[in-house]
Amino acid sequence: MHQKFEFEYEQLADSSRLTKEDQELLEAARNATKNAYAPYSNFLVGAAARLSNEQVVIGANQESASFPVGVCAERALLNSVGSQFPSLSIHTMAISYQPVGKDSNEPISPCGMCRQSLLDFENRYGAPIKIILSGMTGSVMIIPAASNLLPFGFDGSILK
Ligand code: THU
Repeated sequence: MHQKFEFEYEQLADSSRLTKEDQELLEAARNATKNAYAPYSNFLVGAAARLSNEQVVIGANQESASFPVGVCAERALLNSVGSQFPSLSIHTMAISYQPVGKDSNEPISPCGMCRQSLLDFENRYGAPIKIILSGMTGSVMIIPAASNLLPFGFDGSILK
């Protein structure tokens, strides 16, 4: 039997079409690229999460001289939220980037490891995380839940 996995997302021409709240969150993510430590890739990534109490927390990629030790902006942010605000869920995360000396006018989407961490977070709190993706300018993608980005993801239920 053939099966199909598909999901719906929104594509906007630019950030002015977002709600005011989501515009603010995307601005926080764009601004968070300034906190990236990325001397090896020169690829600065910023992320911002709006928590269930409306508080906004930011993260940025932190690279290491031992390359695999570096951490993406998304996981830096998730680990920070989980550590500082363990009782709060994330309802929206915005992600942006600025490659040094290059354009940033189309969305990038999270790496596989970050998709797993996002899914872990969704499962931990039983609440979808809406994901907003955009460069420093240009079009915006709105993905309703992190689980959309990781079909057949491992949720650990078999470990119980
Ligand atoms: N990076 C992120 O922080 N998030 C992503 O979604 C993609 C990649 C970082 C990892 C590394 O520091 C740099 O960008 C280049 O891969």
